[in-house]
Amino acid sequence: MVKALMVKVLILGGTTEATALAKRLAVHPRIDARVSLAGRTKNPVLPPLPTRIGGFGGVEGLAGYLRDEGIQAVIDATHPFADQISANAATACAQAGVPLRLLTRPAWVAGPGDRWIGVPDMAAAAQALRGLGDTVFLTIGRQEVAAFEAMPDKRYLIRAVDPLEPMPKLPRMSLILDRGPFTLEGELALMGGERVEVVVSKNSGGRATDAKLQAARKLGLPVVMVERPAGNGVAELHDVEDAVGWLEGVG
Ligand SMILES: NC(=O)c1ccc[n+]([C@@H]2O[C@H](COP(=O)([O-])OP(=O)(O)OC[C@H]3O[C@@H](n4cnc5c(N)ncnc54)[C@H](OP(=O)(O)O)[C@@H]3O)[C@@H](O)[C@H]2O)c1
Repeated sequence: MVKALMVKVLILGGTTEATALAKRLAVHPRIDARVSLAGRTKNPVLPPLPTRIGGFGGVEGLAGYLRDEGIQAVIDATHPFADQISANAATACAQAGVPLRLLTRPAWVAGPGDRWIGVPDMAAAAQALRGLGDTVFLTIGRQEVAAFEAMPDKRYLIRAVDPLEPMPKLPRMSLILDRGPFTLEGELALMGGERVEVVVSKNSGGRATDAKLQAARKLGLPVVMVERPAGNGVAELHDVEDAVGWLEGVG
């Protein structure tokens, strides 16, 4: 392979979509891609491409990285709720003159039988629990659990990939350490066994973690759904093959 003819690409990762794109690009003859991870999880699923781990140091750091590495295109495949890195990528790419696309999963949409309560952020999610059942299944990751200290009387069943640091001040909480994908059977068994009365979720989209929503529908449970943060006006792609096609066009 003649390196000089290859397009140098940065994938901002940390999602199943980023890993799927990395697998596809690892065998692409004309795309020389590398992945960046934030380093949040202790045992990340490493993509099959050169991978750097850790923050860039804000917009300036990322813009400098793009210039130093001669990056010609960026795919922001971070989680829809990772709004800081996406904002940084939009600004840094504009500064460095590097084309950028978002690779996102479509948001989940409520269907017949769903009892969703839409809220704009985690503080509003905590307030929405007032008047709902006692046992709350928190499936929001670990970074924003402290928001529920505003509603300390509930019993919380918290599922996260890594332990919570620091531990939230919630007198009745139990922690399940697990990583998706999850099955409908598994979610029904867990939610039934723990007598879950309400689910709290981010509107992450995708198939890996939507079984909890199907289970909530079957059990007739309300779901407090935190809607996605506003985007940065960056054009979106929803499919790995579309991302590959766009990168081939950049070349
Ligand atoms: N938020 C979620 O719900 C969620 C769920 C699943 C997975 N994830 C993944 O976990 C990671 C962190 O998410 P977050 O919500 O904490 O991010 P965030 O709040 O948007 O970003 C905070 C800072 O973390 C660093 N960072 C984030 N993603 C990075 C990446 N892929 N490569 C290098 N640095 C990165 C950046 O530091 P500097 O400013 O120093 O560059 C960024 O300013 C992301 O890769 C995301 O895809 C997030």
